[in-house]
Formats: sequence, C-alpha cells, structure tokens
Amino acid sequence: MNTKRGQFSSRFGFILAATGSAVGLGNIWGFPTQTTENGGAAFVFVYAILAFLLAYPALMAELTLGRYSGQNIVTTFQDLARTRIGRIFGGAAGYYGVLVACLILSFYTIVAGWMLAYFCSSFLTLFGMNEAAAWFVEDGILRNLVFSSLFAILTMTIIARGVENGIEKWSIRLMPSLILLFVVLIIYVLTQDGAIEGLKQYLLPNPKQLGNPDLIISAMGQAFFSLSLGVGTMLIYGSYLSKREDLPSVGAAVTLVDLGVAFLAGLLIIPAIFVAQNSGIQVYSDSGELVAGPGLILQVLPALFASTGVLGAVVSILFFALMSIASLTSSISMLEVAVSVTVEKTQRSRLKLTFIIGALILGVSWLIVLNFERLFGFVINLTTVYSQPLLGVVMCIFVGWVMYRHKLLQELKLGNEEVEKTMFWKVWPVYVRFICPALILLVVYNSF
Ligand code: PHE
Repeated sequence: MNTKRGQFSSRFGFILAATGSAVGLGNIWGFPTQTTENGGAAFVFVYAILAFLLAYPALMAELTLGRYSGQNIVTTFQDLARTRIGRIFGGAAGYYGVLVACLILSFYTIVAGWMLAYFCSSFLTLFGMNEAAAWFVEDGILRNLVFSSLFAILTMTIIARGVENGIEKWSIRLMPSLILLFVVLIIYVLTQDGAIEGLKQYLLPNPKQLGNPDLIISAMGQAFFSLSLGVGTMLIYGSYLSKREDLPSVGAAVTLVDLGVAFLAGLLIIPAIFVAQNSGIQVYSDSGELVAGPGLILQVLPALFASTGVLGAVVSILFFALMSIASLTSSISMLEVAVSVTVEKTQRSRLKLTFIIGALILGVSWLIVLNFERLFGFVINLTTVYSQPLLGVVMCIFVGWVMYRHKLLQELKLGNEEVEKTMFWKVWPVYVRFICPALILLVVYNSF
C-alpha cells in the first residue's frame, strides 16, 4: 500500500515553503547573536563565504536526493545503498538525522515561545496592562513552560493537516511583510546616534580574526542551521517538488533569500546595540563584555521599539507576530521530518503520529527549560555545530559516491534540458564528491 504524497502546487509555493523553513530564528535570533559573540564583521564575512562554499552545495545534494527518491530521509538512504553495509549505514544516518531534527525542534520551541510571550506582552502594553505585560517578558520557568507548550501545540496543529493545507499557506504571507518591516526599522535605527559605530562593527572585518577556528566552525554550524540542512527537512521538501523544476536555480533562490534575511537582521540588531548603549541602556556586562547570549535580541529590540514612543507597542506587536510566524514555518518543517518517516514506515494515522511525536519533543523542551544552564547550549552545539554539517557530509557522499552519475544528470535534466552545458554541472558533481566533504571535515577537525 502506498500513502498518497502531497506536492507543492507551484514552483513559487515550493520556494516559499523552503525559504519559510530556512528563514526563522536562525536568521533573526541566531545570526545576530553569533555575530556579536564572534567578533562582528569577521563572522559576517566568513559566514557569507561558507554559505556559498559549503551550505549551497550541500543544500543541492539534499534537494536532489529528495526529489530523485520521492521518499523521506531514511528510506532514501536505504534504497540508494547498493550493499548491505551501505543500507545499514544509510538507515542509521537517516534515523540520526530524524533525531537531530527533533532535538533542534526541542530548543527551537523554547526560543519561539519567547517570541510568543513578547507578542502577548506588547499586546497587553497597548491596552495599558503593564503589570501583566511585565510577567510575560520576565525570564521564568513557568513562563517558558507555558509558552513552549503553546508553540508546540501550534506546530502540531499545522502539521497534522498535511503539507498542502499547512505549509504553503503560512509561508505565502510571511516573507514580504517581514522584509518590509526590517527595512523600515533599519532606516529608523541608522538615523539614531551611535548607529554608525555599530555599522562599522558589522561591516568592517578585523583581518586577524578571519582565521580563528572557533569563528569558522561557528559560522559553518550557523550556515547549516540557517539553511535547515542535514536533517532531512530539505530532502522531504525536495520530495514534494515537481519534476519540472530546475533544482540549481531553485536552490540558489532559497540560499540567497536566507542569506539576505540574516544580513538584514544583523543590519538592524548590531547598530541597535550601539544605539541602546548610547541612550544609557547597559549593553556591556559589569565585566566589560557585550551582553550577547540567547537574550540579546530580547534586550535590544524592545528598547528600540520603546524609543519610537506611542508607535512602539504597535511595532512590537507586529515584529513579534512576524517572528512567531517565521518560527512556525521552520518548526513545522522540522516536525514534518519525523512525521513523514513514521507515517511512511508504519502506515499509521498522520494525526495520531503527529501528536505523539510532538508531545515527546515537548517533553524534551521542558527538560531543557528545567535545566537551562546545563542543557540549552549543549543541545545547540551538539545539533547545529557538529551534527548538521556532518550529516551534510553524508548527503554529499550519497550524491557523489552512491548515486550513479547518469541518474544524477537525468534527475537534473528533468527541470533543465540544457543542464549539461551549465557551469553548475561542470563543477558541482565533482565538488560534492571530493571538496565539499573534505572541507567540512577539515573545519570540524580544526576546531578541536
Ligand atoms: N533554518 C531554520 C532557521 O533558521 C531552522 C531549521 C533547522 C529548520 C533545521 C529546519 C531544520 O530558523
């Protein structure tokens, strides 16, 4: 028996959904935070290079594998392998990818819960209920438990309804409004005192820092996290993509939008840090370090919104609403990984599996909330910094070494008859076979 698989209704729908998955907390919370933690512009510079050098080729590997097989990550690896050992390895790597997707979702749910809480708080502020509003923005265990649960329920509800009804619809409205809001806010920030200093920090790299192994591995992890790579998200989205689409250009579009939104987020937040400092808000801790860390954007942005006076509450509502939606279009793509695997492997009801898996992941989120200091950073490091790039290597190996070259060409030709003559075909197959995996492994090795 074959479960009927959903498909995106158009190329545009796919690009929206895939960018919807890519654009999220990784861009707007992760990227600026990492930039401040890793010395500013040098990080931005290295990040942009690695996005094209490592993340885009790996994204192409994952999308191609998914569309070729039309299956989830586990079955794709298992079916492609030609030996028994290969099947076992493929299955194990596939399940590991699913596990990583779930673990990412478990910390993601917490941060997305913060966005929801700030959204509620700005709403209450607008109606003058300042005391209640304060509770929502104060970091506390109860608040975090409540809002991570709320966010998890939202994610499960969308996924239970399936790809055609769920994913596209949410993505379609989001991106343009988000970008517009960023542009308006950036213009506002850049007219404030102190912004220029921030701009310098963001755009002028210190050459001495470019080779720092810690910076390089952070930038690589961030690039893989931001493009949703290695865990089977892009693979499953590729499997829903029509055969007529030209994969290399679709992949390039997703990469560029993702990079663009991260860049805009940094362009808003880094100068905003310096503007805040200029107006007397403490952005350096007593020991003289920049207050980066997970709370950075939640310290800097509300201060910025407040400085716009009466407009502040409205801007704040809008911003945190868009952030919550952006987080949802990413979280659903993580949950879809585990749901698609279990639905296709067990043939059980999608609805039931969605809520069982969702509840298990929420359990892990609670565990992290209750042991925040110990677990939060650890889970992020384990999943995004190490697991995602290493799983990217597995994708490259399957495309470069396991899949037959003529099959690869055939798959790409479906969307573009002329692909053989393109630069992409001349470089990429060899590149994912040798260079891309070697570079990823080198970065990981170098970080130890
Ligand atoms: N790319 C998403 C973001 O930037 C996070 C994500 C990671 C989504 C892995 C799916 C899979 O927010």
